Amino acid sequence: MARTRLKTVYRHPLPVRIGHWVNALCLLILLLSGLQIFNAHPHLYWGSASDFESPWLSIDYHWSRDDGYSGWTRVYDWQADTTGVLGASPGADGELEGRAFPAWLTIPGSRWLAMGRSWHFFFAWILVINASLFLIWALFAGHLKRLVPTVEDWRGFGQSVIDHLRLRHPTGEAATRYNILQKLAYLTVIFGLGGLIVLTGLCMSPRMDTVLEPVLEFFGGRQSARSIHFLAASGFVLFVAIHLFEVIVSGPVNQLRSMITGYFRYHDHATGVASNRENRHDG
Ligand code: HEM
Repeated sequence: MARTRLKTVYRHPLPVRIGHWVNALCLLILLLSGLQIFNAHPHLYWGSASDFESPWLSIDYHWSRDDGYSGWTRVYDWQADTTGVLGASPGADGELEGRAFPAWLTIPGSRWLAMGRSWHFFFAWILVINASLFLIWALFAGHLKRLVPTVEDWRGFGQSVIDHLRLRHPTGEAATRYNILQKLAYLTVIFGLGGLIVLTGLCMSPRMDTVLEPVLEFFGGRQSARSIHFLAASGFVLFVAIHLFEVIVSGPVNQLRSMITGYFRYHDHATGVASNRENRHDG
């Protein structure tokens, strides 16, 4: 049987680790404060501000003296009773109250639009500053090159999809590099979703909206920009869910430690004896 040795490689430089954790914090707070903002008017539309007739998404409630609150969610013509989670959920006293997203999913927990907006705008700027610094560093340090798929990567695309579906992950030295699906996911999130959410957010922001009027028009009006912002936020939630799932199935302790200390451990399939030597991985 082939012998393996445990190797430690320096995988994540300091700017990547700082950028990653600041991003994670910003995304969490922006999502929860964004849902507070959404709750103030829980309907989304396409078009400009005056087109309020037909929302494509509504999360609302009915109230009657006999039955109390019941929540419902409608997407175009599809509607479901979502009492308990969406539309109507328990308030601080444990009784059902009418609110689109529940208290445990909003910042702050109570109904407080002004405070939600303050949190949202503050962390939006932290996110923009963090992302800009990271991109400048990545460009000059050559880090972005690690994310660009190579011809070799594209050749292995089909196999990588099959491996991911079977929950088989790269081992050995290959585990220290980004695979094609990771590269495509990160590029889509940074330049696609990230770009969309920042641009739509900025062109809806107080004072910025007048400067960015042409961008608002490009998105099809304020209500369209709001819808795209919400959909991009949902895309982030999906990405984070898949990201966390992949971390869990591919060795959570090792992955988490490497994003804190920078050092990643893997089994080298080449024959040899156990080694504590640390290697610098330059990707
Ligand atoms: C630079 C980044 C961002 C900026 C400038 C920004 C700005 C805004 C603005 C101006 C609004 C509407 C506020 C209002 O109508 O009072 C909003 C709403 C919202 N944002 Fe952001 N945002 C940013 C990033 C994010 C991120 C990263 C997420 C989630 C991951 C997010 C989630 C939401 C949600 C769910 C809403 C509620 C949609 C609505 O009802 O209008 N935002 N944001």
